Order: sequence, then structure tokens, then C-alpha cells
Amino acid sequence: SNFTDYQAESATISQGVVESNHAGFTGSGFVNYDNVTGSSVEFAVSAAAAGTQSLTFRFANGTTTDRPMTIAVNGTAVATARSFPGTGAWTTWQEISVNAPLNAGGNTVRATATTDNGGPNLDRLRVTGPGDTEKPTS
Ligand code: GCU
Repeated sequence: SNFTDYQAESATISQGVVESNHAGFTGSGFVNYDNVTGSSVEFAVSAAAAGTQSLTFRFANGTTTDRPMTIAVNGTAVATARSFPGTGAWTTWQEISVNAPLNAGGNTVRATATTDNGGPNLDRLRVTGPGDTEKPTS
């Protein structure tokens, strides 16, 4: 495998809080986005080489309403209003992935809520490098 995990609770949070009251998260908690458009979590991601990598977001959405977010890399949207659908329970965590080009060295990856419900609860970002043949499973 060839991935690096970035915990949401360690990222830069705008309009959200770190919580740990719904089991199944990794690390020490997750981010509960405020229920407003524009709430965001920004990860500082380091890449060894430039190229397309997979950005896998682990999240829970205990409602039956989608919580779409726009994913931006270095300030440019790579997925607009990407679906983060209901997962059945706040303790049921799932993953969605988008591919995006990263620069060698430092990058920002920001996930911003696009509806007034805010984002889902966000556990982590897994960045899977080029050449990986394993699909992340957890
Ligand atoms: C509940 C839940 C939170 C969640 C929130 C929401 O309060 O406990 O974890 O973030 O709903 O709807 O965003």
C-alpha cells in the first residue's frame, strides 16, 4: 500500500467542532461541521511527487439527506458538490474517493459544505499515491 492518513480533528477547521461521541472514528475524534453553507475542513497534504492521487474521505451522515461538499486542491475545485449521502447512522462510517492532481511538496485539500445542512461528520482524509494497487478498505 501507499497511502497517508490525515485526521480531520488535526486539520484546519472553519465553522466546525471536534467531537468523539459517535463510535467508529479513527484517531481521536471527528469534525462535526456546523450546519451552514461554507463550513470547511482543510488538510495540509504532502506529496512526494507531482501526479494524480486518490483522495478518500471517511465520513458519517446519520440523516437521510445528502450533505454535498466541494473538494478543492490548492484552491481549485476538483469535485463540485460531491455527494456525501446518508450512511444510516452517525456511527456508520463510509468512504468516498475523488482523484486529483497534487503538486510535489505541500498541498491543501479543502472540503467545503455546499448546503445549509453543512457537511457530514468527517473522520479523515486518506491520500493514496500513484502506483498503488490496493483499494483502501478502512
Ligand atoms: C447530530 C449529531 C452530530 C451531527 C449533527 C448534524 O447532532 O449528533 O454528530 O454533526 O447531528 O446534523 O450535523
